[in-house]
Amino acid sequence: MSLYETHDVADPSATPAPSCALVIFGARGDLTKRLVVPALYNLLKLGLLPDRFAVVGVDHNEQTAEDWRHGLHDFVEAAVKQKAGEFHPGALDETVWNQLAGRMSYVTGDFLDAETYKRLGKHLADTDATHNLGGRVLFYLAVAERFFGAIVDRLGAAGLVKEQGEAWRRVIIEKPFGHDYTSAVALNTQVLKTLREHQIYRIDHFLGKETVQNIMALRFANGLFEPIWNRDRIDHVQITVAETVGVETRARFYEPTGALRDMVPNHLFQLLAMTAMEPPISFDANAVRDKRGELFAAVRTLSQRDAVRGQYGAGRIDDRELPAYRDEPGVARDSNTETFAALRLTIDNWRWAGVPFYLRTGKRLTRRYTEIAIRFKDAPYALFRETPVDRIGDNWLILQIQPDEGIRLRFNAKVPGPHMVLENVSMNFNYGDWFRQTPAVGYETLIYDCLTGDATLFQRADQVEAAWRVVQPVIDAWTGTKKPGFPDYAAGSAGPDEADAMLRREGHAWRKIGR
Ligand code: BG6
Repeated sequence: MSLYETHDVADPSATPAPSCALVIFGARGDLTKRLVVPALYNLLKLGLLPDRFAVVGVDHNEQTAEDWRHGLHDFVEAAVKQKAGEFHPGALDETVWNQLAGRMSYVTGDFLDAETYKRLGKHLADTDATHNLGGRVLFYLAVAERFFGAIVDRLGAAGLVKEQGEAWRRVIIEKPFGHDYTSAVALNTQVLKTLREHQIYRIDHFLGKETVQNIMALRFANGLFEPIWNRDRIDHVQITVAETVGVETRARFYEPTGALRDMVPNHLFQLLAMTAMEPPISFDANAVRDKRGELFAAVRTLSQRDAVRGQYGAGRIDDRELPAYRDEPGVARDSNTETFAALRLTIDNWRWAGVPFYLRTGKRLTRRYTEIAIRFKDAPYALFRETPVDRIGDNWLILQIQPDEGIRLRFNAKVPGPHMVLENVSMNFNYGDWFRQTPAVGYETLIYDCLTGDATLFQRADQVEAAWRVVQPVIDAWTGTKKPGFPDYAAGSAGPDEADAMLRREGHAWRKIGR
């Protein structure tokens, strides 16, 4: 048992989504197996899927629905096991799985072939007639980026995304939405020829993380923080997304992508937006998205001097000897791809003028750790100057996103004893101690929100484009010039020295990763 009383997390007011069909393009892909279908299982177990529901997989591999379901069983079981804990034994509930599997069918077809869409249309009509789904369909594009526009075009041509009354048609588009500013604008233009903005759900799975959503609760459900959440009291902000994984088997994707495109205009920008946006007038999707959009619009376009790139060399993490990025399978021996990026962002608005936002992310760093650290300004007057105090520690509010989910406040306290000796201490809130969390792979909220039509956690066209606009000059500079010093940080380290130098210039220092 934990030290504290635990509280169930499942929202008692949540009701099952309306009856509908979910069509997954990329039914045999990794994302579907590891995340989408396990999330559906969890939603069904929580009673959040409708009774009248159907899942239709679409992929080019010839196979039966039975083969598809069979292949998914072990992935769902593995996902459940991974989340095993004190309150969750980690065994797959076969009854729930069979219920879900019983609603799953499969359509074989090439994503670019118009015939696929004819077959899918017929299959959907039959499924709807059998299960009475109200004509509602959510299309999930869990496919490679190059297919996004093409699939939407073909769905449109086949008349599959036309809405009628309550019979909504929605499309989830996965990341990456474009690979630079121009391609993001082009993709928006292409999909908006067929779809209306309200039909598009651009996913950024960081917004599915409870700890990320909690930033809004922390800021806007408490009167305590907002009055000091500005340039008057905040010195600077550090956002770190550190990973221990390397490129693994993804070189084909990662080589032309790199850390900046892979993580910054999407995931790190979501953390930035939650931290820095103005309070919305309500939690209505557009009210929140307007504020996120305004924030992105206020971020100054980056210049190269505010950006540092790095690439990992050989090293060790937890006694594991690890190869250099350039020695990973599928990576060019002289690769110029960055596996680390650090940026200094400036936000041009009244709240944040003069407050630097430092962002960093990298692969093969010392620990897997994501946090947003807010450094408050020092006390205005050094009252303890004459006392035997070596050093007065800093005030930090640390939002720990993963894996140790929680919030920490660091402040100074007097060490018991006759002298005035101070120590920097920490007040901790851990999610696990307080809430009994339901097992989740992180896609449950996002999928449920699409099924219920809540777009709050999804990216609008303007936001995606604004984020790419900020980083585009750095993308251009980095792709256009070879970095002579690569590799420049060892696997298992905190990144390249240049990233430290960038903060030192302004009298700051990165926090130790995972401290
Ligand atoms: C993905 C990136 O979008 O996010 C990966 O393509 C990265 O490179 C991953 O590892 C990180 O997500 P999470 O949820 O594991 O922190």
